[in-house]
Amino acid sequence: MQDSLTRLKSRLRGLPGFPLARFLFRLVKSTESRNAALLLLRPPHGLYQPYGTTSVDRYPQIFRFVRESLGDGPDLRILSFGCSTGEEVFSLRPYFPRATLMGIDINPWNIYVCRLRRLRVRAPKTVFAVAGSVSHLADASVDAVFAMAVFRHGDLNTSPPPPQSAHRIRFADFEQSVVDLVRVLKPGGLLVIQNAMFRFCDTRAAEHCETVLTIERESPPQLYGPDDSLLQGVRYPDVVFRKRP
Ligand SMILES: C[S@@+](CC[C@H](N)C(=O)[O-])C[C@H]1O[C@@H](n2cnc3c(N)ncnc32)[C@H](O)[C@@H]1O
Repeated sequence: MQDSLTRLKSRLRGLPGFPLARFLFRLVKSTESRNAALLLLRPPHGLYQPYGTTSVDRYPQIFRFVRESLGDGPDLRILSFGCSTGEEVFSLRPYFPRATLMGIDINPWNIYVCRLRRLRVRAPKTVFAVAGSVSHLADASVDAVFAMAVFRHGDLNTSPPPPQSAHRIRFADFEQSVVDLVRVLKPGGLLVIQNAMFRFCDTRAAEHCETVLTIERESPPQLYGPDDSLLQGVRYPDVVFRKRP
């Protein structure tokens, strides 16, 4: 069944007019797919996962762990890097009622949705910005960074997976991004990376951090190494990293 679907999809892709039909379909399918379709008209530099798939309270085990580790308070600053249409940020609020929550996303259409929603629910201490990096944030200014389902690319999710990732996402960019994410963390702050196609332990940022939470998953994402080559049969359950003082 899966095989015939894949064959049908690749036949459709070969038809003239397929890209236009797919674009129009994505415009009407859902807010997430419309925003991704609009973004992909001119993909911005530094883009990882272009698709904004998200949901409410998507990572309760991880959110609870971070809450228990950091507590809550008016001075706490928490960043959702790649917040899509805001579900992650608004889901974090019950865990951190007094903290400042920041959501950034490279897709301006997603941030537009976040801001509309913030107006609707009148959310205090909740800010959103269009950005593809954290270069605008000061060193050691954030207590926790969530980078969930960002460092990946839906087009690499094929069977079999492509042997190289570089035509969609590159390890060198991932490394630069996580070095910058660790830079903005306060000593003792937490970096959370989930659903990534690269391993944090392969980056030079890892030497400043220790792993504090691992989660074994039934179907973990496929992984690529520092040379952007597919890592066969490798699992990497590390999810939460603490910046050493
Ligand atoms: C699959 S969504 C993840 C949403 C949410 N974090 C979650 O896990 O439910 C990936 C998001 O990452 C954003 N994104 C991709 N590259 C980015 C970058 N360089 N900087 C900020 N956001 C980025 C996309 O626009 C998209 O909204």
